[in-house]
Amino acid sequence: MNATSYLCCIKNGFQFLFLLYFARVNYTLFIFYLQIFNFLITNSIDFIFSNVSLLFMKYLDFNEKEFSLELKEQSLLEIKNVCSQCKNCPLWENRTNIVFSDGKANAPVMLIGEAPGTDEDASGIPFVGKAGKLLSQMIQDAGISRENDLYICNTIKCRPPQNREPLTQEKEACSQYLEAQINIVRPKLIVLCGSTAVSSFLGKGFKISQIRGNKYILFNKIPATVIFHPSYLLRNHSEEFNSPRWLTKKDLAAIKSFISQLG
Ligand code: URA
Repeated sequence: MNATSYLCCIKNGFQFLFLLYFARVNYTLFIFYLQIFNFLITNSIDFIFSNVSLLFMKYLDFNEKEFSLELKEQSLLEIKNVCSQCKNCPLWENRTNIVFSDGKANAPVMLIGEAPGTDEDASGIPFVGKAGKLLSQMIQDAGISRENDLYICNTIKCRPPQNREPLTQEKEACSQYLEAQINIVRPKLIVLCGSTAVSSFLGKGFKISQIRGNKYILFNKIPATVIFHPSYLLRNHSEEFNSPRWLTKKDLAAIKSFISQLG
């Protein structure tokens, strides 16, 4: 029995008690009230109850529900298996492995990068190359656990040749996997790492330096924040005040405090 059926039962119960009350007072009055009840009161009660039901159903909404770790892992595995057979774009021809994800399926934060590089293609794990090592170090320095706090993936799952930026068609061909990952993991925060991830979500024309640190509402109200890509940080060594590395440390500290507040 669902919430609407429960509310219907309650409504019918109230109607019955209401009519019983009038039946006790006066039988003629009872018949009279029975007539107007059907014409007037039932309609308004139906209206009120159907709206209450809708309000109630909102809280039982599929999207609001927390699913078990086991169910999330199982669902992600199904998607990963489909993805490993994917030939939706030409990138499949040169892949060694698809690079699907790393981290916990119930992590509070989902970090989305650009695309696998050579090391990721070889290992099947995102962010394990030079840029990945820098990111992992900075994450650790900020007190964030890569294993427990993050679910890491990329906008596309196969390595583009010469590690070039993914093409729009490649991102579109792969978007179904990323959308499924977001819908299954349902993180509390999405971290868009670098301009490819940003343009996949917000469109072109955004500069990381202008939008990092801000919050956006995406995919069923999940907030998203933006950080510099570690490849960019590898080309910018300075750690002085307001440098990209300094700002990234600040952004990661804010992400850490977001995680801590979740309890
Ligand atoms: N850069 C990315 O954006 N993703 C990876 O997995 C590795 C490097």
